Amino acid sequence: MKNLKIQTSPSILACDWLHLEDEVRRAEAAGADMLHCDIMDGMFVPNMSFGFDIVKLMHGVTKMPMDVHMMTSAPQKYIEVLRDAGAAMITIHNDIGLSDDELVEALKKIRACGMKAAISLRPKIPAESIFPLLPYVDMVLVMTVEPGFGGQKFMADMLPKIAAIRYEADRRGMDLDIQVDGGINEENAARTAAVGANVFVVGTASFRAPDMKEALDKVKAAAEKAFLSGL
Ligand code: DX5
Ligand code: ZN
Repeated sequence: MKNLKIQTSPSILACDWLHLEDEVRRAEAAGADMLHCDIMDGMFVPNMSFGFDIVKLMHGVTKMPMDVHMMTSAPQKYIEVLRDAGAAMITIHNDIGLSDDELVEALKKIRACGMKAAISLRPKIPAESIFPLLPYVDMVLVMTVEPGFGGQKFMADMLPKIAAIRYEADRRGMDLDIQVDGGINEENAARTAAVGANVFVVGTASFRAPDMKEALDKVKAAAEKAFLSGL
């Protein structure tokens, strides 16, 4: 994992939606490495958020890569639409009713469209269930809350899962990004980094902080220190 960078991805879900353009610019000015876009369909999760046009509008006002988290039941139908909206990376969940072969097909299609591909696991899903998909992904997203809403409490019992995925990636000699998402702040960013996470989705703890740059800097510094100590 020598070539991995510690990165932050603020979740736009936690922004002030009446001022979306300003909020996107604020995240960029705060030094965010990418922008986390949570798309929810009211089926895969019990909530709805925003759609592809909003991703495209946000992409139009920033250089930050669009990190799209598809919390939807049929993400494979929207790969080209998301490419056209400017997505740099698409994360899909593994429990969307597709076989592993069908998931591989979707992940390959994401890459064939020029984007990074990632797979995510809900809290109840064990690490091993995504091991067959590792050759087809650039990143694994470990949910540290039940997906569907921002502002929830980080689940510390996800730490062994992160460690197990990092162990398996190292065993295979993969420079795999591991993203954590849900209730992430400075304190638990360090805990997740110590067991192998290197990409940090920060919603409430960044957009709702008094100083967004300071909040993201702190998450990054804490994670960098812990990640290196964990090597
Ligand atoms: C939860 C979403 C998260 C969420 C993160 O379903 O996937 O990305 O917006 O926000 P916080 O950091 O507030 O938990
Ligand atoms: Zn998310």
